[in-house]
Amino acid sequence: MCGIVGSIGLDKPRNYISKGLKMLDYRGYDSAGVAYFDNGIKIYKDVGSVEHLFTIVPEHIDTNLMIGHTRWATHGAPNKNNTHPHISFHKKICLVHNGVIENYKELKKFLLEKGYQFYGETDSEIVANLLEYYYLELKDLPKTIEKIISLLEGSYAICFFASDSKDNLYIFKKGSPLVVGLGKGFNLVASDASPMVEFTTEFIEINDEEYGVINKDKVSIFDKNGNVLDKDVIEKDIELISHDLKGYPHYMLKEIEEIPQTVNRIINHYFINNEFQFDKKLIKDLNESDHIIFIGCGTSYHAGLVGGRYFEKYNKSASRFIASEWAFHPTFPGRKPFIILISQSGETADLIHCLKIIKEQKLKNLVITNTGGSTLDRNCEYSILLRSGIEVSVASTKAYVAQVALFAMLAAALENDKTVVDDLRQSIDVINDIQNNFKPIIQSVAEELKDQKNLFFFGRSFDYFLSLEASLKLKEISYIHSEAVPGGELKHGPIALIEKGLPVIVFVTDPDTASSMRGNIEEVKSRGAKVYVVSTEKLAKEGDTIIVKNYAFYLSSVAISSIAFYLAYYVALAKGLNVDKPRNLAKSVTVE
Ligand code: AGP
Repeated sequence: MCGIVGSIGLDKPRNYISKGLKMLDYRGYDSAGVAYFDNGIKIYKDVGSVEHLFTIVPEHIDTNLMIGHTRWATHGAPNKNNTHPHISFHKKICLVHNGVIENYKELKKFLLEKGYQFYGETDSEIVANLLEYYYLELKDLPKTIEKIISLLEGSYAICFFASDSKDNLYIFKKGSPLVVGLGKGFNLVASDASPMVEFTTEFIEINDEEYGVINKDKVSIFDKNGNVLDKDVIEKDIELISHDLKGYPHYMLKEIEEIPQTVNRIINHYFINNEFQFDKKLIKDLNESDHIIFIGCGTSYHAGLVGGRYFEKYNKSASRFIASEWAFHPTFPGRKPFIILISQSGETADLIHCLKIIKEQKLKNLVITNTGGSTLDRNCEYSILLRSGIEVSVASTKAYVAQVALFAMLAAALENDKTVVDDLRQSIDVINDIQNNFKPIIQSVAEELKDQKNLFFFGRSFDYFLSLEASLKLKEISYIHSEAVPGGELKHGPIALIEKGLPVIVFVTDPDTASSMRGNIEEVKSRGAKVYVVSTEKLAKEGDTIIVKNYAFYLSSVAISSIAFYLAYYVALAKGLNVDKPRNLAKSVTVE
């Protein structure tokens, strides 16, 4: 899980590489490095942030070629030796790599037998040396890349240059993303398009087992056998991939506040002239299937829990799975199952593993993703884009709400039930109201919670699904242990943990379960818990902490999840933590 950038022909590439790496550090931020050509290969790298790296990289660099990398360690500890770029033993090849080479041990053994030595523990250094070994033998870099593609197992996006070919960048990939940005007199490379939008709006997406030879005026892309490919040039909507913080102190806050426009965009894109706008063949396939299987990880899995309930509302049976569980024990309920994969990034390795199985079984499939051009977007049979704009903060917020809103629309489209649109519009009012009126109270609750070690979220039905997401979000960025419990399960175990002063946050927004929830509240209060209740006007009781406007209760995750997101945000802020880049996590989990 790393970010890579490359530039050829750009005057003063340091600027692009430093900004680009900062934009990509959502992909990993253990260590970072750059390499360039200036009378030989120069490398600067260190453990720590991109900001730290650029305190050691010289200000003035005279080069037309530069590559950079931000790392999330997989093979080998985050230390300076393991930091990219990597240089080969005879100093002929310098590369950056994102992905995991599964057969690196046998490749290393081969190279050791040939007399190669290594300074670090990464699989990436092996690839640099393998490139060098075959380049010395074949004397031709494209042929060398073809050979290496035939040898590597696993995932990779690689950008490299050779000490004797300083006017070219070389790229090849499988499984990990890589995009080329087209300029005039220069060309760029990055893990996603966002770092390049300041320089170009035209992009080429590289597919698996393709490779590229890039100089300042030309981009040539080949298949693994060396055949030249005629690639489409794609124009991207800059607004949707911009990393501009727009005055916000953190991406997470910006992204929470973008939720109303995110939901609005989904309505306006997928419901035009009073008609749903989904692919008719997709709706037919969904209607003809007898079981929908939802698969996701983390927050996306939580969205799938809600999505499954929506499809059940329209008489579809549904099951939900965590991708890493399903991948090793796949089950296919129903005679004609249809699989929905959910992934904000579209690059999550566990889901890519699932997709391989789904394709082997020749099952109908759809991905719901925020990332056009991602691996899942390109490889699933159907793809629906969330159109939320790039989500930079590791904690997923607006994408979660978009996933749930999209599921509400898609499920309703099966029976052409248009009431969902008004329900979603009403939810937008609630979200705006929370944004305008409830932040101070959420902030004061955050102050009360910031020193806690444990807390609970309770809810039933849709409020339980929301509780799961609220709990994950708090854990992820505030490092407070929390657990989500369905109200009805309380007496089956968790109540044993209730003690004086333990914070419990309860959602009471479902009319069918409100009175049971009120019962649960009394049970924990009488055991000393400090209870914070979020309720709707219709179901409110005196003393509730936050009372929001009424909304269609099945849309809890759309209408009020921002309360949970603000809470996690303000707790992390009060604890002085890195809100956007929590420890040990990365935005795109591209390793299993
Ligand atoms: C969300 O806040 C988390 N960072 C994480 O659980 C995330 O949702 C999960 O890794 C799945 O990512 P995806 O949606 O990109 O597949």
